[in-house]
Amino acid sequence: MGRITLDKVRKTFGDVEVIPPLDLTIEDGEFVVFVGPSGCGKSTLLRLIAGLEDVTSGQIRIDRQDATDLPPAKRGLAMVFQSYALYPHMSVRKNIAFPMKMAGLPQDEQDRRIEAAAKALNLTDYLDRKPGQLSGGQRQRVAIGRAIVREPAAFLFDEPLSNLDAALRVGMRLEISELHKRLATTMIYVTHDQVEAMTMADKIVVLRAGHIEQVGSPLELYNRPRNVFVAGFIGSPKMNLISGAEAEKHGAVTIGIRPEHLGISTESGLWKGVIGVSEHLGSDTFFHVTVEGLGEPLTVRASGEVSLKYGDIVWLTPNEVNLHRFNAEGLRIA
Ligand SMILES: Nc1ncnc2c1ncn2[C@@H]1O[C@H](COP(=O)(O)OP(=O)(O)OP(=O)(O)O)[C@@H](O)[C@H]1O
Ligand SMILES: [Mg+2]
Repeated sequence: MGRITLDKVRKTFGDVEVIPPLDLTIEDGEFVVFVGPSGCGKSTLLRLIAGLEDVTSGQIRIDRQDATDLPPAKRGLAMVFQSYALYPHMSVRKNIAFPMKMAGLPQDEQDRRIEAAAKALNLTDYLDRKPGQLSGGQRQRVAIGRAIVREPAAFLFDEPLSNLDAALRVGMRLEISELHKRLATTMIYVTHDQVEAMTMADKIVVLRAGHIEQVGSPLELYNRPRNVFVAGFIGSPKMNLISGAEAEKHGAVTIGIRPEHLGISTESGLWKGVIGVSEHLGSDTFFHVTVEGLGEPLTVRASGEVSLKYGDIVWLTPNEVNLHRFNAEGLRIA
């Protein structure tokens, strides 16, 4: 079981309040992703849950038990860090066994868990190797294996894949998602990666300066961001945000339109603009189009390869039903 409840959890370092009182419930078996700008308190929040930092005030409950003052080892959680620090002189088997050895588990139980974890993580053939003889992805799997054998109530991941190259990240992302499906154990996962957040999460928590801006499923956040901050943060490339006279025409202080919801034509449309940089990805093309009076260039996503070039005059038309409207406080209107 792994239901985690934060009740008015607050954290200060000296006189700096990093996390103002915060409430959050993570359901048993949920995959929750924390996102937010650098320094917003994602790691701090994870460390508070793990017990690696003391809360300044408030309560943390794990499966209804008050865990606020429990030491990390008594919380039944396992943390996997970005720098996974394996013991270089120990074999993979010994690295994975380490936490069980510390806990004094019987040898046959240790062996059973090691075999199961190695099988789940495709490490069976590597158990006798040293970490130095493994690839980055294999090493990260050993670190996860070391967490699995503890049979934790929840896994806490702090940017576990950010040291891996792009291809390995994709592979490990799928492996962790699959592991979650199989184990059905609560996972809390911190990432900077939009694709990881969108594809892995049951629930995304968007943080800003230690404060929760929105909690919801990836598509809820994508389709109905509750404020300008979430609108601009979730999605890559970013949502186009437009203020001023054009927004007022739509009864808003700011309007938002995602790159895929802007039509582009050489013949007619609502806004006339000039193409700047184009990014050709093969599957899609992103055009950066400057429209006079609308501020920053707008990003437009066209499907496939579109033969428009730098300096071409184009017309853009937002898809009205996909327009996001925000008031003077930056909050979503309807
Ligand atoms: N031990 C500490 N003492 C003082 N300030 C700290 C301490 N640890 C973190 N902070 C501050 O708390 C804030 C939140 O830090 P935290 O590491 O949680 O951010 P983060 O969201 O994980 O950022 P990143 O995305 O860069 O990893 C930062 O302003 C940081 O400087
Ligand atoms: Mg961090």
